[in-house]
Amino acid sequence: MEAKLSRAAKKLTTSPIQELSHLAQCCNAINLAEGFPDFPAPPHIKNAAVSAINSDFNQYRHVQGICDYLSQMVKEIHGLDINPLTDVAICCGQTEAFAAAIFATIDAGDEVILFDPSYETYEGCITMAGGVPVSYLLPIFISNFIHVPLDPPQWTLDPSKLLRSLTERTKAIVLNSPHNPTGKVFTKEELETIARACCSQDCLAITDEVYEHITYDTVKHISLATIPGMQERTVITSSLSKTFSVTGWRVGWAIGPAFLASAIRNIHIKVTDSAPAPFQEAALTALRSPPEYFQTLKSDYQSKRDFIVKLLAGVGFKIQFIPQGSIFLFAELPEDCLLSDVEFVKKLILEAGVVAVPGQGFFHANLSSNGISEGSCSYQKRYIRFAFCKSHETLAAVSERLGNLLNGEGFLR
Ligand SMILES: Cc1ncc(COP(=O)(O)O)c(C=O)c1O
Repeated sequence: MEAKLSRAAKKLTTSPIQELSHLAQCCNAINLAEGFPDFPAPPHIKNAAVSAINSDFNQYRHVQGICDYLSQMVKEIHGLDINPLTDVAICCGQTEAFAAAIFATIDAGDEVILFDPSYETYEGCITMAGGVPVSYLLPIFISNFIHVPLDPPQWTLDPSKLLRSLTERTKAIVLNSPHNPTGKVFTKEELETIARACCSQDCLAITDEVYEHITYDTVKHISLATIPGMQERTVITSSLSKTFSVTGWRVGWAIGPAFLASAIRNIHIKVTDSAPAPFQEAALTALRSPPEYFQTLKSDYQSKRDFIVKLLAGVGFKIQFIPQGSIFLFAELPEDCLLSDVEFVKKLILEAGVVAVPGQGFFHANLSSNGISEGSCSYQKRYIRFAFCKSHETLAAVSERLGNLLNGEGFLR
């Protein structure tokens, strides 16, 4: 009967990395793999949700106030004019907003440009929609496609690589900034390069800005939609999940020109009808949080970032890129470590009781079928992603457990 599964379902299989999660559970490992906080959500937001349930906001619901607040915020932060009645679709998290944006725009055979590395869920959505999530043609091997690589160690965007990836079938470019897994925040110049590509090719941009409020030092997040010519062709997706430490609430949104927002809303209504009613109500309280809330969010995360950078650099990881935003550190294995990323994570789980994510899952360039990368691709198996959205106690426990992996000189053995 398995043959009855659709082609899309057959493609969405569990990855070897999910097997590591199973091993981690068996070993009761501290979880630095997944990007959700292990500390409590802010009390004022939790109280708003409890009160919404008690006030019987428990039925299908569209909370227009969310669209009104988002329009105000987008005006204040980015200077963009958004019509709250037509340009916003509330969805179940960024994940559904992104999927609906893809289904609203991508037909079979359309090409969608992704950067490499990138967050894993985009590719699955694009494939389900029949799109081709690959675009960058290697000049010699015409049949080899890869994503547009960001160049390590700073994960810079080379404009010529992006331009070479455009074809007459390019329908959209997906941009995630602040970026998972690297913590990169795209610069204004890079955004202008992407905007030039979109405008010259007359294609759309779909952005994932879930870490919009989590940036460090003096780095500022700039929305691609603010670059001239882009608002009319950009769908911004984001959510409450990361900004308010409520990844389980499933409230997110897509913001874009009315024709796109309306198509996304129609898909959302057909698939889930509405986001959870009490959490939409609580979103009103969350979005109204005072400026100090957002400042504390940044400064708390910045001290967690500093802690994990110091900890991992101290034991020999090569940290050539300090995260400028998001909640992840993409750390390179020490030069003298002969293990691959997957082998290292296995050892990390078994010997230290800590789990992180092998970096190769975020890369999409051709890796050989035996799993060993070749030639210039080998850096793709040298990174480990650590999520530092964890309490001080958790991070301190990680520091202690890492001791099990160190030699007499205090370096990873
Ligand atoms: C880049 C990125 N986008 C989206 C999400 C998921 O967002 P949501 O919970 O709003 O669906 C995550 C979660 O880790 C993420 O890292």
